[in-house]
Amino acid sequence: MKIKLSEKKLKDIKADCEIVFVVNKNLGHKFIRDKEILNEMNFKGKADEVLLLPEKKRMYVGIGDLELESLRCATALAARTIVKSKITSLKIALYFADDAGRGIKALSEGFLLGAYSYQKYKSKPTKNNIKQIIISSENYYNKKIEIKNLEEKIKEAEIISKSVNFVRDIVNEPPSDLTPLKFSEIAKAEAKENNLTIKILGKKELEKLGMGAFLAVNQASAYPPWLIYLNYKPKNAKKKIILVGKGLTYDTGGLSLKLGDGMLTMKMDMGGAGAILGVIMAISQLKLPIEVQAIIGATENAIGKDAYKPDDVLKAMNGKTIEVRDTDAEGRLVLADCLCYAQKENFDYIIDIATLTGASMVALGEYTSAVMGFNQDLNHKILKSAEKSGELVGILPFNKYLPKLLKSEIADINNLPSSRYGRAITAGLFLGEFIEKRNKKKWAHIDIAGPAFKDKPWGVNPVGASGAGTRLLIEWIKGVL
Ligand code: BES
Ligand code: ZN
Ligand code: ZN
Repeated sequence: MKIKLSEKKLKDIKADCEIVFVVNKNLGHKFIRDKEILNEMNFKGKADEVLLLPEKKRMYVGIGDLELESLRCATALAARTIVKSKITSLKIALYFADDAGRGIKALSEGFLLGAYSYQKYKSKPTKNNIKQIIISSENYYNKKIEIKNLEEKIKEAEIISKSVNFVRDIVNEPPSDLTPLKFSEIAKAEAKENNLTIKILGKKELEKLGMGAFLAVNQASAYPPWLIYLNYKPKNAKKKIILVGKGLTYDTGGLSLKLGDGMLTMKMDMGGAGAILGVIMAISQLKLPIEVQAIIGATENAIGKDAYKPDDVLKAMNGKTIEVRDTDAEGRLVLADCLCYAQKENFDYIIDIATLTGASMVALGEYTSAVMGFNQDLNHKILKSAEKSGELVGILPFNKYLPKLLKSEIADINNLPSSRYGRAITAGLFLGEFIEKRNKKKWAHIDIAGPAFKDKPWGVNPVGASGAGTRLLIEWIKGVL
């Protein structure tokens, strides 16, 4: 799918189909040449309305308003509708006319993210026939715009969308195929492709480092654990950011076993790790002058005779002891050791990202990621970046009472809070206990349990994995300088 910019008027561009957005009831706009049909069909231009007129070679898509996110979603809907047809080329006006190219970036992302579907395991995969999309600089407001920056914005949208689609691919992969070893091999291949250095630590090394929490989670798995450590280090780096991702290739819950419905879709439990792999690839391709490290704790949480148990006491790499009261609260155990490992060097920021708690969905609804940490300014910067990127984020507040819920009688900390309430926050506070004092303000935690995986398409996202966290982190890193 190639996206091209043209200075020709829309009507002078050749394509199989023209996409026309209808902005909330405004059927009088010059782009709309089938007003009677739209009236007849009672087409109002509300978000999510689509009408394909094959004889006219036009598709009308309701958009509601011309906000960037509305453009992204309407374009994604158009792509999703057309991708199944034999249509090979599309044309569309620019609509949102700005010299900064935000409009063209949103349109390009809408197409590239919306056309995605996971076909790898179909014996007869549905092909995406769209070869070319031409965006005309003609726009809704008839505004003259400077187009020299726009080509670059298409390129940026391509890099970002490609990395999101890569994340979707690996999160959608079945858990017996995407084992921790396979995950490390994929990371190795991508490191080579993207000029990243990579170090992969195996079980022996994790033992030597004293990662008792990470290793306990792995104990019953048929597959050994791997810590995957990637680095993008440009010569002109002005900042250094460490990303840490939960890479549970499957979460059965362990001996505190999940019930059928709760276990289904738990292949998504490496969504945080997938996202940071996508992010570091994109940052390297965008050639940003920022050092980025990605640390992935990859393992499965299985059951078996070797399984770690509720009542066990574990020792993390920093010497802290953890009472296990629920083997299904395993993500925080893996992350605790990865966070300790990550802090051996200096850095400007450390962000962890994980499908950590069902409670984050109870708090914010299933489309929104939760961000939390000790630095309000950092939380807000992440929130703003999310908005800009098209992802949804809400800030969950720490307070001085909730840490008490993690007290243990026999160890330094408990992996299960004593109350059912506020479990997304107490999970964040647990991780905060493994952030060294000097780094407290440099840290934020993002819980993507809600948006990482859905059984219906939503916005620019398909059925299955969404790649949640990828766009928001790329946007945040772009703004860090
Ligand atoms: N991977 C799950 C969280 C999750 C749930 C992600 C639903 C995506 C969708 C995590 O390991 C888990 O099971 N957390 C427990 C923690 C609890 C035992 C404190 C939870 O959320 O119930
Ligand atoms: Zn779990
Ligand atoms: Zn989990």
